Amino acid sequence: MALLIRNGRIVTATDNYVADIFCTGESVSRIERRIDPATVAGAEVIDGTGKYVFPGFIDPHVHVYLPFMGTYAKDTWETVSKAALVGGTTSLIEMICPGRNDEPLAAYELWRGKAEGVSACDFTFHMGVSRFDVGAEAQLREVVRQGVRSFKVFLAYKGALGIDDRELYRTLMLARELGVVVTAHCENETLVDERQKELIAAGKTGPEFHEPSRPVRVEAEGVHHLMTFAELTGAAVYIVHTSCPEAVEEARRAIDRGVRATIEVVLPHLILDRSYAEQPGFVGAKYVMSPPLREKGKQAAMWNHLASGLVSTVGTDHAPFDFETQKVMGRGDFTKIPNGIPSVEDRVNLLFTHGVCTGKISLNRFVDAASTQAARVFGLRGKGTIAVGADADLVVYDPDYRGVISAASHSMATDYSAFEGWEIKGRPSAVTLRGEVVARDGKFTGKKGAGHQILRGEPGLAG
Ligand code: URP
Ligand code: ZN
Ligand code: ZN
Repeated sequence: MALLIRNGRIVTATDNYVADIFCTGESVSRIERRIDPATVAGAEVIDGTGKYVFPGFIDPHVHVYLPFMGTYAKDTWETVSKAALVGGTTSLIEMICPGRNDEPLAAYELWRGKAEGVSACDFTFHMGVSRFDVGAEAQLREVVRQGVRSFKVFLAYKGALGIDDRELYRTLMLARELGVVVTAHCENETLVDERQKELIAAGKTGPEFHEPSRPVRVEAEGVHHLMTFAELTGAAVYIVHTSCPEAVEEARRAIDRGVRATIEVVLPHLILDRSYAEQPGFVGAKYVMSPPLREKGKQAAMWNHLASGLVSTVGTDHAPFDFETQKVMGRGDFTKIPNGIPSVEDRVNLLFTHGVCTGKISLNRFVDAASTQAARVFGLRGKGTIAVGADADLVVYDPDYRGVISAASHSMATDYSAFEGWEIKGRPSAVTLRGEVVARDGKFTGKKGAGHQILRGEPGLAG
């Protein structure tokens, strides 16, 4: 059905103006200050008066199907896509994380099969490289040929997902040849491993010791390492979940030398700090993720880097594990707490509340960081902006809404919220995916399986 959004304030990465938007098929077909209703008779009408209209938000870093640390992440594509849409995120990029012995092509089919016909939002993937040999290379070429134009490597998780330096070098060489971006988790796995062993041997077993086992220098060293390899290979890289200014500084130095690097921050590192993981009674396990939550004093610099654009994107690293049955696996040994914090549903509202409402980032930068940059870096055609011909993925956003986050009302599958009781200022009042209304006022109204795998073009990276 055709759709008319009347009189909303359209905000993109660069614009801010009041107009009507008319959508037919799956795209935006007209944007005019005032569209004569007689010319669009029969269209569904949404009144945007007093509201913002944003392009559908894109989360460039989520985990849905994730066999990890002896268990599986809790969400399915059915639950995660509902949660995303209710929260204003219309496209997700999932990390495919095969084990070292898994075949890349089979892994791609497995991960894709979990989303296809189930997801209510649009989706694509970063192809995990957990082994690089002649057989894996041929399969990676095929995955790229099928439209996945980014890889994922872990410089952490020794003996599980991580690759060695020879494999890293060859992955980056292949990526450069194919024009593929390599996303990377940067922490020095040997340092993590040694420090974990020392802490456990000293009886320091609680979740509060997770951060000391991988302090900021461990991450900065990981970024420095990746930058060296990116410089020598000429590959384009994307540093995921950068948690601290020390890591950003390593990337900035490399960018200044001409390295093609993009920096991501994820929501938890902007608004949660290490004191959450230090809560007594093992409650801190809810806040164990890697890189870890840092001391509060690091956040101001991260917000400044986000405001300036040095940090390009805000994702979530949504990695959902239940507290009662999964996080507890690490009681008595923090190294066994499944790493991850669920937040796909809350990213947009919390970034608006803590970023825009406090004046830390502008409205345009908010849209840019939470939507437009991800579309640009990862080549998501038709996404990330509002323009004639673009996909009609739109978020009609009510800045006057006031509410409180709770696991009792969220759509994510986890039994806890990391933001229980937190106030949000603003919420999507309507969300459309390619012209269909898929959420209204916190309620999912879309269809299971209506999400499409996104066609990927050449990444829009500089250099
Ligand atoms: O703690 C995290 N980040 N869990 C998910 C896996 C990863 O490293 O991205
Ligand atoms: Zn990671
Ligand atoms: Zn991740």
